[in-house]
Amino acid sequence: MLKHEVKVLLSEQEVDKRIQEIGDMITKDFAGETVHLVCVLKGGSFFMCELAKRINLPVSLDFMSVSSYGSDTKSSGVVKIVKDLDEPLQGKNVIVVEDIVDSGRTLSYLMEMLKDRKPKSLTLCTLLDKPDRRVIDVDVKYTGFTIPDVFVVGYGLDYDQLYRNLPYIGEVVFPGEEGK
Ligand code: IMP
Ligand code: MG
Repeated sequence: MLKHEVKVLLSEQEVDKRIQEIGDMITKDFAGETVHLVCVLKGGSFFMCELAKRINLPVSLDFMSVSSYGSDTKSSGVVKIVKDLDEPLQGKNVIVVEDIVDSGRTLSYLMEMLKDRKPKSLTLCTLLDKPDRRVIDVDVKYTGFTIPDVFVVGYGLDYDQLYRNLPYIGEVVFPGEEGK
C-alpha cells in the first residue's frame, strides 16, 4: 500500500443530512407502494442500511455481489455475479443502491441484467457520482453527492479493503500529489 493520508471530504453530518433528504424523496416518489432495495456489496452496504432506515414505506432488502471479469473488464464492462439475489424482482419497485458511479461500466451492465427480470420499476440510487470519469452513460435517479475525480474512502468505500467503516467520506491523498 502506498503511503497516504485520508482527508475529510464530506463530514458525517453532511452525509447523514443528505441520506435523510434522499430517504424523504423516495418516500414521496413511491408513496403507497412497497420498495425493494438491492444492495451491491460490499460498498453499497453502509449507505443502504442508513437509507433504508429513512424510508417511511414498506421496504424489503436483497443483496448481490459482482466482480470484474478477468483483467479485460475495463474494456468489456462485463461483470460476473459472485452472489446473486435471493428473491425474484418481478413486479417490484426495485431501487439499486450503490456506493459510487465511476466509469459507469458496472452499473450499466447490472441495470440491463436486472431489467430482464421484469421489475415493476427499476431505479438507481448512488451515494456518490464522479461524472468526469464516465465512459458509459447510466441513468441515475438519486445521487447523494457529485464529486470531482478523486479517490475516496469511507461509508462502504475501500482502499485495499480498508476504511469502509469510516463514518464520513474521505479523500485519499498521496504525498506529492497535493494540489495537483
Ligand atoms: P465503475 O462505475 O464500473 O467504474 O465502477 C465503480 C466501482 O469502482 C465502485 O462500485 C467502486 O467499487 C469502485 N470505485 C470507483 N471509484 C472509487 C473510489 O474513489 N474509491 C473507492 N472505490 C471506487
Ligand atoms: Mg461498488
